[in-house]
Amino acid sequence: MHKIHAAITAVHAYVPDYILTNKELEGMVDTNDEWITSRTGIKERRILKGDFATSDMGVHAVNGLLKKRGISASEIDLIIFCTTTPDMPFPATANVLADKIGAVNAWGYDLNAACSGFVFGLSTGSQFIESGKHKKVLVVGGDKMSSIINYKDRTSCIIFGDGCGAVLLEPNTEGYGVQDSILKSDGSGGSYLFQKAGGSLHPATSKTVENDEHYLVQEGQAVFKFAVTNMADVAAEIMEKNNLGPDDVAWLVPHQANKRIIDATTNRMGLSSDKVMINIERYGNTTNGTIPICLWEWESKLKKGDNVILAAFGGGFTWGSVYLKWAY
Ligand code: UT7
Repeated sequence: MHKIHAAITAVHAYVPDYILTNKELEGMVDTNDEWITSRTGIKERRILKGDFATSDMGVHAVNGLLKKRGISASEIDLIIFCTTTPDMPFPATANVLADKIGAVNAWGYDLNAACSGFVFGLSTGSQFIESGKHKKVLVVGGDKMSSIINYKDRTSCIIFGDGCGAVLLEPNTEGYGVQDSILKSDGSGGSYLFQKAGGSLHPATSKTVENDEHYLVQEGQAVFKFAVTNMADVAAEIMEKNNLGPDDVAWLVPHQANKRIIDATTNRMGLSSDKVMINIERYGNTTNGTIPICLWEWESKLKKGDNVILAAFGGGFTWGSVYLKWAY
């Protein structure tokens, strides 16, 4: 009996239509296109307008995925929704999504590891496939970051955007799929990137709203310092652990937080830039959405057997890397 790996067998994503450009941001805060582009690599990001939530982007992503794979929602065993902007504190957005798409036989839960959520979710979801417990696991990563961004704070509002992607995991006994993962967290980094109010420590009051405490706060420089070393280190670590040299790696799929962090990771891994999926200029940082959105955009370029390394760093701090062999 060959070992069961969890293989990605389908991917799809959704980004909202509305494009918030650097030019438009220039009219909202004291910033300019040159600063944003040179410091982050971002030109524009998508914003989910209207009365829609994170789960609604998940519906678009998952329905597209199911159609591609030719299966119905009732065949899904488990939904892991990786998000930092759930529709509500509870019920879980995974349950909301299951109901909206008709995944009547699935159980589900939300996973919150900020920008590392999708990597954590992919690794976690894989365990249910590898153990033989489940045959079809959906890992969804998405955020409506615009719901927690303060559009008066120029240090954060220029970075984030909305979007969602999803992958389907199924068993593979030919050696394709997730090979390894390294996941890390360090709670002492919590004070550098957080949303203060709305939880049990500071429940919502008129005061918390008045004080803008329901918005994301980021100490950019401090986060940058940790991100730039830890994301590069963990990506290099998973290569070394699996005896992979730069020539063995077909693709790096990095979390899209800052082009300079992506470049540092690319250099550390010894990769040429044509092996790196980068779309930060069009979507900014969609938090849990960045990696599956990249996989969706590059799907036609991925080949069966390609060694793919995913790497992320986010609030918490959390960071990690997944090594997989592309299965189709
Ligand atoms: O995905 C989750 C993890 N998050 C990250 O990985 C993000 C990591 N951090 C970063 O990407 C960067 O730190 C930022 C893009 C957030 C900021 O870039 P920076 O190069 O670290 O800028 P800084 O905070 O050191 O600010 C430099 C200057 C400051 O002015 P002074 O004090 O030198 O006069 C800021 O006030 O740039 C100013 N500044 C801006 N100027 C124009 C800050 N934001 C802006 C802005 N437009 N939007």
